[in-house]
Amino acid sequence: MKICVAVFFGGKSTEHEISCISANQAIHALDKEKYEVLPIYISKDNEFYIGEELFDLANYSSFINDPAQVLKKVTIYKDGNAVKVKPVKGLFAKEYQIDVAFPVVHGTNVEDGSLAGFLQMLDLPYTSCDVLGGALGQDKAAMKDVFRAEGIPMVEYFVVYNSDFEENYNEYLAQAKKLGFPLIAKPANLGSSIGIEVIKNQKEFKEKVSECLRYDFKVVVETMIEDLKEVNISVIGTNDSARVSAIEEVTNGFLDFDKKYQPGKGSKGAKKLGAKAGAKGASKGMASTIRKVPADLTAKQKKTIEDTALKVFRVLNSFGCVRIDFMIDRKNNKVYCNEINTIPGSLAFYLWKEDGISFDKECDELINNALYRYAKKSRKTYSFDTNILDNYAKK
Ligand SMILES: Nc1ncnc2c1ncn2[C@@H]1O[C@H](COP(=O)(O)OP(=O)(O)O)[C@@H](O)[C@H]1O
Ligand SMILES: [Mg+2]
Repeated sequence: MKICVAVFFGGKSTEHEISCISANQAIHALDKEKYEVLPIYISKDNEFYIGEELFDLANYSSFINDPAQVLKKVTIYKDGNAVKVKPVKGLFAKEYQIDVAFPVVHGTNVEDGSLAGFLQMLDLPYTSCDVLGGALGQDKAAMKDVFRAEGIPMVEYFVVYNSDFEENYNEYLAQAKKLGFPLIAKPANLGSSIGIEVIKNQKEFKEKVSECLRYDFKVVVETMIEDLKEVNISVIGTNDSARVSAIEEVTNGFLDFDKKYQPGKGSKGAKKLGAKAGAKGASKGMASTIRKVPADLTAKQKKTIEDTALKVFRVLNSFGCVRIDFMIDRKNNKVYCNEINTIPGSLAFYLWKEDGISFDKECDELINNALYRYAKKSRKTYSFDTNILDNYAKK
């Protein structure tokens, strides 16, 4: 019997569409000889759907706003030791039994530990970070606080809270002045460069931070690196061991949403190195970013990035395949860790390809790791016999 792999994607997130692209790449890459692939689309209302249409990205624009018209709504539930997927309509509709969940979700309400929590409750092996890893990876303020505690190199930053921005404005402004302008302000919980503001000077501070606070209750304000080189590395691993990929340099400068995912719009005339690596039958997504692999780095910078990436993977409780992004200040060649993407766009397959690992092999490894973690965790103790409730029983 083939292993049934449920690929989860979409969800109530600003990166919904990007997740559809990444997931489609994985759906095409998964080895159909070994796996029965069940795509599970999470609508923008966080409802679950299945359907043959999910195998072809060309169909997606037809249902994204009204999936019930085209797809089958399903319920996912635990039934003894099995996890089942059942259409909500049709008494005799085919049910599926999932063996492994393969989340390819990006952003809030899904990648942030929410989906991991749901899968954990179902007691299902899954290929991505657990609740804590996903949550820390999503919240830039919490993530940076852990980085700071662990001595991970970072640009200086402070966190602004919506709840007291007006009241303590002068203190916040003093912190900004201490770091020095220009600064960057980012909503703590978004991705894909959405809501990011450059604060050129003191005069702009209030307006730009307020703009950012429209997106989130917390905003990270940090030193802006003006002469920036951006490099990314992927890590694949478990709680016991991990390894790093090749390092890419992303060369289209300040990556905004359009530039990252709609190259025609934001990076006119630029060479799309990732394009050739695109999975057959699927769109390019993050794989279409303009990149140079391997990045031009000194041996020392390369080592710093690799060592730091492995440390970040461990201290943020990561699992599966992540991408860790670094910034280099060209003025002094210093390396700073910027963030982790716990489920990166295109699952960073284009980086592993550089090391001779094809996307289907990467998927195999993620599934094997998920089964390994599940087996290992199953041997830990989660309950013990107690008679505490006997004290509450009616005598
Ligand atoms: N401190 C900084 N200095 C200069 N540019 C930055 C800085 N922080 C972020 N950026 C730019 O903004 C982009 C998006 O910021 P990032 O922190 O990676 O958030 P996101 O989760 O949206 O990807 C980065 O890829 C980089 O181009
Ligand atoms: Mg980023």
